[in-house]
Amino acid sequence: MTQTVLIVGATGMLGRRIAHHLVRSPQARVRLLVRDPHGKKEVLDPLAAKGAEVVAGDLSDAASLDRATRGVDVIVSAVQGGPEVIVEGQVRLAEIGKRNAVRRILPSDYALDLFKATPGEHTMFDMRAQADARIAETGLEQVNVLQGGFMELFMPGKGAIDLEAGTVSFFGDGHRPVEVTSVEDTARMVARAALDRALAAGKFAFAGDRVSFRQAGEIVARQSGRPIRPVSLGSEADLRALMAQADPHQQVMLAYLLYMTNGQTALTGLQNDRYGDLKLQGFADFVARQGERS
Ligand SMILES: NC(=O)c1ccc[n+]([C@@H]2O[C@H](COP(=O)([O-])OP(=O)(O)OC[C@H]3O[C@@H](n4cnc5c(N)ncnc54)[C@H](OP(=O)(O)O)[C@@H]3O)[C@@H](O)[C@H]2O)c1
Repeated sequence: MTQTVLIVGATGMLGRRIAHHLVRSPQARVRLLVRDPHGKKEVLDPLAAKGAEVVAGDLSDAASLDRATRGVDVIVSAVQGGPEVIVEGQVRLAEIGKRNAVRRILPSDYALDLFKATPGEHTMFDMRAQADARIAETGLEQVNVLQGGFMELFMPGKGAIDLEAGTVSFFGDGHRPVEVTSVEDTARMVARAALDRALAAGKFAFAGDRVSFRQAGEIVARQSGRPIRPVSLGSEADLRALMAQADPHQQVMLAYLLYMTNGQTALTGLQNDRYGDLKLQGFADFVARQGERS
């Protein structure tokens, strides 16, 4: 049986990959809600060529959400933004979707277990938890996709690993494993989950790998042939002290590090094998493939 899936955020980094996989599924009719249907042609044209219906809309515009959610079974949100998008926009989308008999929504979570965060410590997690609590009040069923950090963010130059300096930096002892998944595998899993009527509502956690900062450094060192030395930037208490003085943007970055350092939002109950034919890539393999591409 085919289902109609509305993707919001399909022009984004993750959303475009989710859309790419959904338009290839014979079980999906795909509709994309985009702010500018004539922009980002390099993303939208190939999706439209595969049969996706592109509709104009904005999470701030209730009438556009009403039009976009008619006849929809499942909404996949991959939006990014501030509270007006993540909280008010997604709640508006869920309320209107519920009125139009949408069955389920996958909100834009895609993180470590944000529901275990201490309120007030992590703005991005707080917004999502707040949005999801309000979406639950609408009565619309939700599946919360939790895949940990994107592997891409552990590659050299993205923060922790500096190939030039030959270092991998972290707080704490660097031994705590963190759940990581590639963007591509996340998108594949989301596309499958969106169409999976038997998937239970609530958290849907999976991870391509569990790697510590030290292990990530060792893997990149082996792959690049360059030495990478572990460097601790301080204790969890030092990290918290830095957060207290940081500007809001830095605070968000440090909050991600905090939960990777103390493991508070670690994923449990992984459902990696739910789709037998979909094997998630491990970090070493991911790094090797990135090396082949560059
Ligand atoms: N776990 C991790 O390591 C990790 C890393 C990165 C991202 N993420 C998560 O993945 C999700 C997607 O992030 P991303 O980096 O792919 O986002 P992104 O590239 O910034 O894309 C955001 C999308 O949201 C759309 N959008 C924003 N405001 C909108 C509005 N008012 N109405 C309709 N659409 C709107 C944008 O449309 P336009 O094209 O019109 O701007 C765009 O398609 C987020 O939840 C993010 O936190 C997780």
